[in-house]
Amino acid sequence: MNDFEIDVIQGLSHSPKFLPCKYLYDEKGSDLFEQICETKDYYVTRADLELHQTKLPEISQLIGPHAHIIEFGSGAGTKTQQLLSSLTEPRAYTPIEISPTALALSVETLQSIFPDLSIIPLEADYTQDIDPDDLRLDPPARRRVVYFPGSTIGNFTREEARGFLTRMGKIAQQNGAVLVGVDLIKPIPELLRAYDDDEGITERFNKNLLVRLKEELGAELDLDAFKHEARFNSELNRIEMHLVATKPTSIRVAQHHFHLAAGETIHTESSHKYTIEDFQALAKEAGLIAERVWLDEGARFSMHYLVPDPSKGRLNQ
Ligand code: AVI
Repeated sequence: MNDFEIDVIQGLSHSPKFLPCKYLYDEKGSDLFEQICETKDYYVTRADLELHQTKLPEISQLIGPHAHIIEFGSGAGTKTQQLLSSLTEPRAYTPIEISPTALALSVETLQSIFPDLSIIPLEADYTQDIDPDDLRLDPPARRRVVYFPGSTIGNFTREEARGFLTRMGKIAQQNGAVLVGVDLIKPIPELLRAYDDDEGITERFNKNLLVRLKEELGAELDLDAFKHEARFNSELNRIEMHLVATKPTSIRVAQHHFHLAAGETIHTESSHKYTIEDFQALAKEAGLIAERVWLDEGARFSMHYLVPDPSKGRLNQ
């Protein structure tokens, strides 16, 4: 049994049913996510890009020269290029990525654009602890900046996000910083539209998970018995994606048989939305002080510059 099968059986055995969101992002799913970013309803990517375009001069001034940029993710995209172009003599750039193919592609792309930049890739899972020795430079950079654009932090629960911020702070070390993008809370209809776009791409993205179950695990299920639904959970301030059974149906995986009543759902992804104060409070719990925050013009998206709290003592060196 592979991890995918184990996780699927575990998630479908749980009440309420769920499937881990990482399985949404196979090649097809990642491609559909790129398409979501282009839809008129998904404002997140456009707001993030606009913020980069307008605020990078200030951000790079705060970062200063000779910084070591450590990105969580493979980062060959526009935002990374814009950040690197805006910096004064960056000391080095390290993308941290679990997929060697994505990592190699990122290095190749960025090295051709920035031939003089020292790019030191790290093949690792950034959701786990990173060995500080893997990031050591000789001579050391003036400052480390852990960069996490997009709003992927919103896909973690609050507890997970706190742990994640704590680890980012440890990597940044004293004198370093964490630069993280966070989507902001906004009127619910706007949020629901962003996660249930008119073109039906998010629906395809979500249902692709069921296609994977069929194709990769040989699962028996009726694709037409499920519909995509975006819900706002106002207790937890998050958008949730669900696959809802439109009639009584069942899924058979390996020797396991799961029944779903009409209306029963499989929760596939959460996207937490924050107010600025709420995110800053979470960062504080993770030992990080909010030094600056920038917003796009429509105040839809935020970028936080967080620094390790010196009163929390010496962090992992
Ligand atoms: C990857 N992540 C930041 C997206 C989000 O907005 O939570 C994933 C997504 N799921 C559906 N639409 C976008």
